[in-house]
Amino acid sequence: ADGEHFSNHPPGDFSLEAVRRSFSHALDTAPTVITGVKKRISNISTNEISTRLNEAVNAIQNAAAAWKAASNAPRRAEILRRSAGIMSRRIYELAAVQVLEVGKQWDQAYNDVCEAIDFLNYYAAESEKLFSPRSLSNIAGERNSLSYRPRGIAGVIAPWNFPLAISTGMTSAALVTGNGVLYKPAEESAVTGRLMYEIFMEAGVPAEILHFFPGEGEVVGAALVSHPRINCIAFTGSKEVGLGIIETLSRQQQGSAYVRSSVTEMGGKNGIIIDSDADLDVAVEAVLYSAFGFQGQKCSAASRAIVHESLYNEFLNRLTAAADSLIMGDAVDPGTFLGPAVSPEAERKIADYIAIGREEGREMLVKDNLAIFADIRPEHRLAQEEVFGPVLAVMKTESIRQGIEMANAVDFGLTGGIVSRNRGHIDLVREHLEAGNIYINRSITGALVGRQPFGGFKLSGQGTKAGGSQYLLNFVHPVAVSENM
Ligand code: NAD
Ligand code: ALA
Repeated sequence: ADGEHFSNHPPGDFSLEAVRRSFSHALDTAPTVITGVKKRISNISTNEISTRLNEAVNAIQNAAAAWKAASNAPRRAEILRRSAGIMSRRIYELAAVQVLEVGKQWDQAYNDVCEAIDFLNYYAAESEKLFSPRSLSNIAGERNSLSYRPRGIAGVIAPWNFPLAISTGMTSAALVTGNGVLYKPAEESAVTGRLMYEIFMEAGVPAEILHFFPGEGEVVGAALVSHPRINCIAFTGSKEVGLGIIETLSRQQQGSAYVRSSVTEMGGKNGIIIDSDADLDVAVEAVLYSAFGFQGQKCSAASRAIVHESLYNEFLNRLTAAADSLIMGDAVDPGTFLGPAVSPEAERKIADYIAIGREEGREMLVKDNLAIFADIRPEHRLAQEEVFGPVLAVMKTESIRQGIEMANAVDFGLTGGIVSRNRGHIDLVREHLEAGNIYINRSITGALVGRQPFGGFKLSGQGTKAGGSQYLLNFVHPVAVSENM
């Protein structure tokens, strides 16, 4: 990829025996990889956090001049591309570790590594555009230009559900714009996080510039957010934690000469509208994949299907039969579509929502942790709260306008979509659906870097979109220079 050309890494073609064999082999060796990596991780405790943070911040400050120099921009982009090359060579290993660490299915784990590679190549290309000289309007005797400087030090706080892709996206964007980074992986996916850190080291990021900060969110994450010399936070995770980060950053910290900023990507309660003339083959497949892929543990997952009354029963019956036929089991088995949630705690939360669904709606299917409830209404908890599991609320609507109203009647605004053949209805959704990513006649998950820049609004987050041309702006200060000639 260069400044003008970027293309997505191809997804794994699991119809090829060679691909399946490579994956299977990587799964055989992944337990040894994980054991080895774990020896190199020691969580940072409450006692050590303050010392460790100050040491890392000082190290960054001492090395910052060379790293952030405008003349160093091409080298930083080159390091990202080198990291992409390493990930590409180790794609099966990085995917297999995710299967064991967080229970991702083979194809989804492979796609996560593809997305990480895409972020690296895309942000490398975008940084070349950002750091090329750009002139503004000039008049005789005056020369104006705009350039970008790094914010300084970024704290990156990541979730476990896209353990390599999201960590790599946030970290690489902060690095390529010349910042130092303190990276905190989620507790559940620290091994994958550590592998990413080691790949950046191998690719040439100076050890003084990138620091690995594993540990509990309430300890390590909270300390990063409160530290006065960390100028910006890149966070992806739950609404509760994200809003807490925004609140902390809004209080001026003694010792900070900056308004400390954040890009916060949070949860969703995403709705997909099934219109009266929808192709039900498309609708059932789109809902199945969006609601139950990776056990529904995606911020982008469909958790509400809002269905026109004219095909409500038919859709419900077909969806339920299709969901009932999904193969459930352990992610190490390539045939499974979905399996257990990431942790016993997550399973308990899902079970609680299944109990709520039984009270609020009509049970269509409950099979292990997968559940479909019909006749959910907008005021129900199942229509409002993010479950983060394979629990789908099906709601009945009388018209497209009412369907859009129902879709919008939540605090979130991340993804959403419609299955319809009616151009007028599609246009209404395009204009009025309150979602940062809108999908038409397809699943509502699986945004690709550069093709579907990703991120929401309302309580789903703020900042510019990941995998989009403005994302790097989260990590820089623009400076305008006007010279009298
Ligand atoms: P989480 O909010 O529990 O944790 C995210 C990160 O924040 C982890 O690293 C955690 O250790 C850390 N953390 C926890 N408490 C903290 C605190 N007090 N201060 C600072 N950091 C703290 O989320 P999760 O369970 O890892 O991920 C699931 C959530 O993430 C869901 O809500 C999902 O919708 C959201 N998500 C959003 C996007 C997006 O792009 N919008 C993508 C993936 C996941
Ligand atoms: N970027 C991920 C998706 O679109 C969250 O599904």
